[in-house]
Order: sequence, then C-alpha cells, then structure tokens
Amino acid sequence: MCGIVGYVGNALSTKPLDVALGGLRRLQYRGYDSAGIALVGPTGLTVVKRAGKIDRLEAALFENPAPPAYAGLGHTRWATHGRPTDANAHPHVGGKGRVAIVHNGILENHLVLREELAASGVAFGSQTDTEVAAHLLAAAYEETGDLTAAMLRVVARLEGAFTLLAVADDAPSTVVGARRSSPLVVGLGAGENFLGSDVAAFIEHTHDALELGEDQVVTITPETVSVLGFDGRPAIARPFTVDWDANAAVKGGFSTFMNKEIHDQPDAVAKTLLGRVDAAGRLHLDELRIDERLLRRVDKIVVVACGTAAYAGLVAKYAIEHWCRIPVEVELAHEFRYRDPVVGEKTLVVAITQSGETMDTIQAVRHARDQGAKVVAVVNTMGSTIPRESDAALYTHAGPEVAVASTKAFIAQIAATYLLGLYLAQLRGTLFADEVRAVLTELRAIPAKIERVLESEERIRELAISMADVGSILYLGRHVGYPVALEGALKLKELAYIHAEGFAAGELKHGPIALIEPGRVVFVVVPSPRGRDQLHAKVLSNIAEIKARGARAVVIAEEGDDDVASLAAEVIFVPPTPTLLAPLVAVVPLQIFACELATAKGLDVDQPRNLAKSVTVE
Ligand code: M6R
Repeated sequence: MCGIVGYVGNALSTKPLDVALGGLRRLQYRGYDSAGIALVGPTGLTVVKRAGKIDRLEAALFENPAPPAYAGLGHTRWATHGRPTDANAHPHVGGKGRVAIVHNGILENHLVLREELAASGVAFGSQTDTEVAAHLLAAAYEETGDLTAAMLRVVARLEGAFTLLAVADDAPSTVVGARRSSPLVVGLGAGENFLGSDVAAFIEHTHDALELGEDQVVTITPETVSVLGFDGRPAIARPFTVDWDANAAVKGGFSTFMNKEIHDQPDAVAKTLLGRVDAAGRLHLDELRIDERLLRRVDKIVVVACGTAAYAGLVAKYAIEHWCRIPVEVELAHEFRYRDPVVGEKTLVVAITQSGETMDTIQAVRHARDQGAKVVAVVNTMGSTIPRESDAALYTHAGPEVAVASTKAFIAQIAATYLLGLYLAQLRGTLFADEVRAVLTELRAIPAKIERVLESEERIRELAISMADVGSILYLGRHVGYPVALEGALKLKELAYIHAEGFAAGELKHGPIALIEPGRVVFVVVPSPRGRDQLHAKVLSNIAEIKARGARAVVIAEEGDDDVASLAAEVIFVPPTPTLLAPLVAVVPLQIFACELATAKGLDVDQPRNLAKSVTVE
C-alpha cells in the first residue's frame, strides 16, 4: 500500500521538500506508520526518515533543516516486511548512499536477492524487501552511469508487485520511476514534473497527468517525461486531466475527513448522476464502450469487489436483478480469483472499487478477461489501474476520499451501479422508458434526502456517546437493508474497534438469536411500510423478538412509520424513499454513529489502526 511522491524542477529551492511533504500528507491514507524524504541538490543526497506519522518527520526536519534541492522523493509506509522503525522507513539507500529508492508493493524474491547481495559483501541496514532494490540499483548505476538504464536492469531482476522511484546523488535533474502491478501516475508542470501513487500527490500543483501502463519505466526531468517498456523500447502513456478540485482533498472546516466526507454525500450522488440523462429522459453512459449487441446478450452479471465496495455490489444485485431480470452474483474479488468461477463471453463482470488499485480486484479483473468476460469498472480514482485494465469504466464522481474508511464512495458506487442497471434495462427493454425516468427522478431526489438525514447528526452523536462503552453491537437488515447492516457493522469495527456483526434479519432465528440478551444493542434497518409491506411486517417481528429478550433495538425507519416506535428503544427516522433506493439514505445514520462513537473514544477516525485505504497487496 504505501504512498509515494516524486518531484523535479529547474530551480534550486525548498519546493522538492514542500511537494514531498504536501504529497505525503495527501497520500497518508495509503499508509501511515513511517515517513521519509530524499532530496538531491548541489551537495548531493539528503535522506531523512522517521517511524510514526508525518509529524515526526516534520519535527526532525524542523530541528535539522534540509538543504535546498532540485529533486525529491517522499514515502509514507504501510509495513509489510519489517516493523515500523526508523531503519525500515523509506527511502532506502544503496551504494554507500549514492542512490535512494522508495517502494510500494512487495518484492516476492527479496530473500533470494538478499542472500546473493550479502554473499557479495553488501551489508543490510533494514529488514525490508525494498533494500535489495536499492543495492541492486546502486550496483547497476555504478556500471551504467545512467539512472534509467540502471532501473531497467533492476526491474528485470524483481518479482512481485512494485512501484519504485529513485534518485542519484550526482543526477539532481532526474527522477526515475517504474511500475508493475502497483500504481504510478505522472503530473505535468511547466519547468517541473511530478510522480505520485495517485493524483492526490500533486493535485495542488497540476491537473495535467499521464497514466502509465503496466511494466513501464518513466524518467522525469524539469522539461521532459520519457516512458519506456521494461524491454527498453519507447512506450506510450495516456494523458488525462484531473477533474478533482484541490480543495476537495482538504477538511474544509470539518474536524476530520471522515466527517467532511459523510457531509459530501449529497454532492457525491448528485455529481455521479450528472450529465448522464438526455432531455428526453434517456440514459446515456458514453463511457460504456462495450458493443450494445454484447450487452444485450449478457446472461449473467458478476460483481467483484472487496469490503465496502462489495457491499455496494450486494445492494446493486437487488436492483439490477429486479430491473433487468439478469442473475447477478456478488463475489469477494479474492475468492472469485482462486476458485475457478464460471464466467464466459456472455458474462458481464462489474468491478467496483474506490481506489482502482485494490490488488485482489485487479487479479479478479484479469482472470475474468482471460476467461472471455467483458469487464466494466465502477471506479472513483482516475488514472488508476482497474479502469485501464477493464473494457469500460463508469466513474463515480465522489471526489477524493481521504479518510481510510469509505463513506461517500459507497453511496456513489450504489448510484453508479444503479445507473448501469437502468441503462441495461433500457437497452434490453426490461423496463419501459417511463419506468426508467421514474427511478431517475427518485435518484435525483436522494441528495436532498441525505441532507435531511444529516440534520439528525446531533441526536446520533448523543446516542453514540451514550454507547461508548458497549462491547459488541449487532446489525440486522432484510432485502436491501441486509448489505446496509453489513456496512454499518464494518464501519463500527473499522472506526471504533468494537466487535460488530451484520446479519440478514431473517437469519436471526437460525442462530444469531442466541446472542440476544438483556442490554445487547441491536441496530435494525427497517424497510419502508409502503410498497413491500411484507418485508416491513417481518422485520417488525424481529424487533419484537429482540425486545422480548431484553435487548435494545435501535431502529432506522422511515418517517411516519408509527408501528416501530412502540417496539424500539430508539428510532432514527429517515425520509420516505422507494425500497430499492433506501440504502442511499439508511446507511448515513450508521456511518455517523460509527464516526461519533470512535470520536467519543478518542480514536483517529481518519486513520484507524492497521488499515490502509488502498490495499495493493494480495
Ligand atoms: O478501493 P477499493 O474500493 O477497491 O477498496 C475496497 C476495500 O478495501 C475498502 O472498501 C475497505 O473495505 C474500506 N476500509 C472500507 O471502509
């Protein structure tokens, strides 16, 4: 996981350091157990690194300011090999400090290479896999005198997934990068150029970017960007423009990114719907560059995703099956990849991902395409790997999600997959045009409904504070409320470190009811009493069963649902919403609850322990 940033400019200044530190702050969501920088100027190479968050690195730089430089690297780490210590932090140096390297990924053959290097007299200063690449690079640079040529030699020796950035003490105008199965994008400036794990690394400085392909080496100088394949031949990188506003990646007056992103949700839905419907109310998904004849022939949809994104897929299953009459399977990407799934040319695989870099999902996409399936990526991050490797990409326009736990991306993923479902229904004629229009009208009403849920924030905060000492919470939901319950439980685990489990409400009597005891807190997502009233009646029975055993039911219910009030210990009302769209409002109180409970416990809601936002290892 780890975040990396690189910079080179034509002026000797503190800018390389400023870009590195600013980029690391924005990339901290990728890992935050240690951080470091390398700078190259007239006095050679300066490397400073510290275990802990970026503040510790900044404090070290405040005590001993770094000299001005032309080029710089930055790294924020999520430890894989070696504990988070100063020595294991990146950058790692090779060749008696002549070259410095930062790395994201895992070098699978590092043990073999370590033995080989040790036998030739190299002394190691860390337990990381990365350090072998630093020593290999130093040796290759000694022989070639050219950082790009040296990097090409190094990547030929490495197995696994990696993004590497490197600088050398006598080449202050050059930064070289390489990528295999790990992200790297280029930012284009005037008299300066940038590299980053994603565009957040340099969004403050430029919106013009290049997407690198798999197995490419890039060399940036202040005036040039050149790209080679690992075979040394010139290669093409695709230009794109970043449509995120730099301000979207700052807290903007909120105490935490999590808080801000929960409040961004009306906007995330509105932007995801924007520009996709014509004046006649017909959906146009121009990005879906898959032959319409193929889409008409699709006989199965398989959603592959992980974590929160997989729960968005589970929500979408209910809607897409209902609208399109196509069977939809939802599978965790890591399970899909390794179990010989039945997919073929008539299968449409939908890969849902905020980051576009989740390695499990990347592998699932590759496997699906190998089997002849078409893949649509539902993705939030431009320039990332999964849309590039898919047949088509449907972007969610949630803006940068900085808090490690996902909120607005989840809501935008549901909105985007609903657009995909409606589009397929329109194309295949399983819904009439006026039915599609009616759902789109309801979808457009969702942002205002989420705003209304946000008005309950203070009440939910009080509820969360009153439960700060609870040891375990259960979440129940039925139909589309089931994935909402799963997501509510995941948010609580991630943010508040409280044991939580989500169940299908109908499953309660098949086992989990044994957990119901006096004082137990159970969140219940209640379906609308209008429309599918059978669902409502059944969930009400579940609440009665919970109450009868002395547990406390905290209920998310539709305004005007008077029946729940007598059964529940607490009711959080949400605006009336058609059943299939209800997850878009019902999940919001659960997100706020988890965030507020974690805050009440004094925890870091933006960077929960052990997690990384972008899980780029399998
Ligand atoms: O970037 P992706 O959407 O592919 O990430 C998938 C999961 O790793 C992610 O949703 C994870 O579960 C989050 N921690 C949820 O808050």
